[in-house]
Amino acid sequence: MAGHSNYVPQSAAAKWLESRLPVIGLVRGSFVDFPTPKNLNYWWTFGGILFFVLIAQIVTGIVLVMHYTPNTAMAFASVEHIMRDVNFGWLLRYLHANGASMFFIAVFIHMFRGMYYGSYKAPREISWILGVVIFLIMMATAFMGYVLPWGQMSFWGATVITNLFSALPLVGEPIVNWLWGGFAVDNPTLNRFFSLHYLLPFMIFGVVLLHVWAFHTTGNNNPTGINPKTKQDTIPFHPYYTIKDLFAIVVFMILFAYFVFYIPNFLGHADNYIEANPLVTPAHIVPEWYFLPFYAILRAVPDKLGGVILMFGSIAVMFVLPWLDTSKVRSGTYRPLFKQFFWIFAAVCVGLGYLGAMPAEGGYVIAARILTAYYFAHFLIILPLLGFLEKPKELPASISEAVLSGGGKPAGAVAAPDTK
Ligand code: HEM
Repeated sequence: MAGHSNYVPQSAAAKWLESRLPVIGLVRGSFVDFPTPKNLNYWWTFGGILFFVLIAQIVTGIVLVMHYTPNTAMAFASVEHIMRDVNFGWLLRYLHANGASMFFIAVFIHMFRGMYYGSYKAPREISWILGVVIFLIMMATAFMGYVLPWGQMSFWGATVITNLFSALPLVGEPIVNWLWGGFAVDNPTLNRFFSLHYLLPFMIFGVVLLHVWAFHTTGNNNPTGINPKTKQDTIPFHPYYTIKDLFAIVVFMILFAYFVFYIPNFLGHADNYIEANPLVTPAHIVPEWYFLPFYAILRAVPDKLGGVILMFGSIAVMFVLPWLDTSKVRSGTYRPLFKQFFWIFAAVCVGLGYLGAMPAEGGYVIAARILTAYYFAHFLIILPLLGFLEKPKELPASISEAVLSGGGKPAGAVAAPDTK
């Protein structure tokens, strides 16, 4: 990903390979010798956690496919067969279904980390934009995956969401029929969703490689937001961050295991254990929890097309975030006003999630409208203005200074003249 390696092949075989395909040097330069800011905190482990969950989803998914049948007549029964008859099929399925939720927990934390520490700001705009692309593909993948068990929520969720495109003037109806491959969500729809659900994770994998390449070219951001200035400000990725990421992954796996082994259906919906029936509409059609904030925005607008535009707009606005934030200071740590607005924004997102799960009526709709307006105001009004209105705190001279003045002296150090 980046040519920082000082790898010199020793054996004849290694020399032979390196002069033809310098893959060992590439891996060493990217994940062993790579100079990484020495002050990364645990919020920086979520990139590694995400990578782990992505691989876990791909592996469990591939084995699930060996037993699943993408046909409306058999899909529901094939999932029950996996749960009851296939050796450890229940484990595979619960890992995969809860893995999707874990993926979104990790990605939301990863995104909010980026927002708090200004990781989207120059020169890391491309890392951020590729991140938003990954997020979009993740949502498409999760949406189509949820249709595959062919339960009531699968069917009705697919019907409601694909129908949104019918709001487009003139082309709406033809587009929806084209998506369905017919005049309703049916076998052709299930087939193409299955095909795409298998394909998209590999596209995510590809975009992740570009994502990593991008921030390896610019170097990582860090909690101070200041660029490393001397060799003292960085440490090699291995063993320092390999071990830290590994520890975080193990802790994350404990949470994951708790869901899988103790409350495997907590995040699911009971109606999805009823086979899809186009003649019976469930009382409440609710998407999975990670879609709820966007669902709340969709329903906050009385007009269908307006709702669809705002829902897609709520993600589209993230693409231009690097240019909306006008502050010269990167990290929220040194931005007293931004910090407060950041937490209000986080609370608004949680609030929208709550409202997405409530019926779209009365006070809930009013609240959803207010929070939706605030969501867009945060990006389009507050962030651009804050850069001009806010007086940031004084920045430390370097990463080393920030680390040492706050946290005492490194082990074995003699009392040095104070850095401040
Ligand atoms: C499959 C999903 C993803 C994977 C595997 C992934 C992986 C990573 C990894 C390994 C890092 C470096 C470690 C870290 O900073 O945590 C990173 C950094 C970063 N990610 Fe992601 N990421 C994903 C999704 C996203 C999304 C959805 C966004 C934003 C919308 C995003 C934005 C960023 C940014 C801006 C950085 C640079 C952070 C820095 O250097 O401070 N990523 N990502």
